[in-house]
Amino acid sequence: MSKDSIFIRACKGQETERTPVWIMRQAGRYLPEYRAIRAKTDFLGLCKTPELASEVTVQPIDIIGVDAAILFSDILVIPEAMGMRLEVIESKGPVFYDPIRSLEQINNLKTEGVTERLNYVMEAIKMTKEKLNNRVPLIGFSGAPWTLACYMVEGKGSKSFDVIKSFIYNEPEAAHELLRILADSVVDYLNAKIRAGCDAVQIFDTWAGILSPWDCEEFSLQYIRYICERLETNGVPVIVFAKGVDSMGELSDLKCDVLGIDWTKDIGEVRGAVAGKKAIQGNLDPCVLFASKEKIAAETEKILAKFGYGAGHIFNLGHGILPKTPVENTQYFVNCVKELSVKYHSET
Ligand code: CP3
Repeated sequence: MSKDSIFIRACKGQETERTPVWIMRQAGRYLPEYRAIRAKTDFLGLCKTPELASEVTVQPIDIIGVDAAILFSDILVIPEAMGMRLEVIESKGPVFYDPIRSLEQINNLKTEGVTERLNYVMEAIKMTKEKLNNRVPLIGFSGAPWTLACYMVEGKGSKSFDVIKSFIYNEPEAAHELLRILADSVVDYLNAKIRAGCDAVQIFDTWAGILSPWDCEEFSLQYIRYICERLETNGVPVIVFAKGVDSMGELSDLKCDVLGIDWTKDIGEVRGAVAGKKAIQGNLDPCVLFASKEKIAAETEKILAKFGYGAGHIFNLGHGILPKTPVENTQYFVNCVKELSVKYHSET
């Protein structure tokens, strides 16, 4: 049963026989089996075809041996369902053709019926649950309002984020209107995912760390807090991954179960700061998977040792797995976690 799985138990801070492990972006281009299915359709077509989306979701369970599945989709399906034209271009990433630059455009977003238009996601969840057949739990996810707004306003990825930052500094009220709309949609969307059968949900705020601490509170954390307070979880764990955010005190007061951390943090120090209030997910540098097996084992052991003994650690990378990662190293890493973590857990 999913509820008794070591992933769900670890999310709730309960003791497990070893540390569970999954990988952000585990269904993706580093897998030849993913590329074979992806060759049949474009990226959004894959997201919108439940039969194919559920198939690639399950691939890393069989191939890599991870302890949880994460539904194959993208955070940008929400703005797309609000009427923004999105294309995910090979080797360039996502592009919105008419990015948000004014309050008028925000007011024109189709905010009614977003979750209904995302029904293909709910269908993919149901099909995935059947294919998983209770082998491992299924994680659903959403982008946080701030990260969604970054793409909607910039129109694409960015290095400096000058467009979204100019927007929040010059038109803070319009920015907050956009973030409010997004926060309500995320609540609706995640609640629908939980009802459709997801066993856990993760909120990705990939770009939270580009803001000053006070802007981070105002434009990012405030909305994550709002979402966490409104989720109808029915006991399903909530994971918040606010990449690059250092204020562990504030994060540990969120109404969620797990905090995801990137590789720039010492997981032992984070454990101390969080003081048992949350489980912690992370945090191997994804680039370690390009190193030798000895290095992969040593870095995995280092993180396990830094976290130390006892419950409340979910092993993951500190960000998504990179497309050129060798599959063999990824399998080796997962086995390292499974074997090396046993000594940090005592049978109860
Ligand atoms: O984790 C999983 O296996 C589920 C799949 C997943 C994807 N995107 C598939 C994807 C998840 C959880 C995401 C989340 C996502 N998408 C985030 C937050 C997490 C993070 O990595 O920061 C963000 C910022 C996006 C937006 C996005 N979508 C970007 C920046 C890109 C291009 C980057 C890239 O890897 O090329 C996408 C496209 C995308 N989303 C791909 C995949 C597998 C690649 C497109 C393809 O297969 O052609």
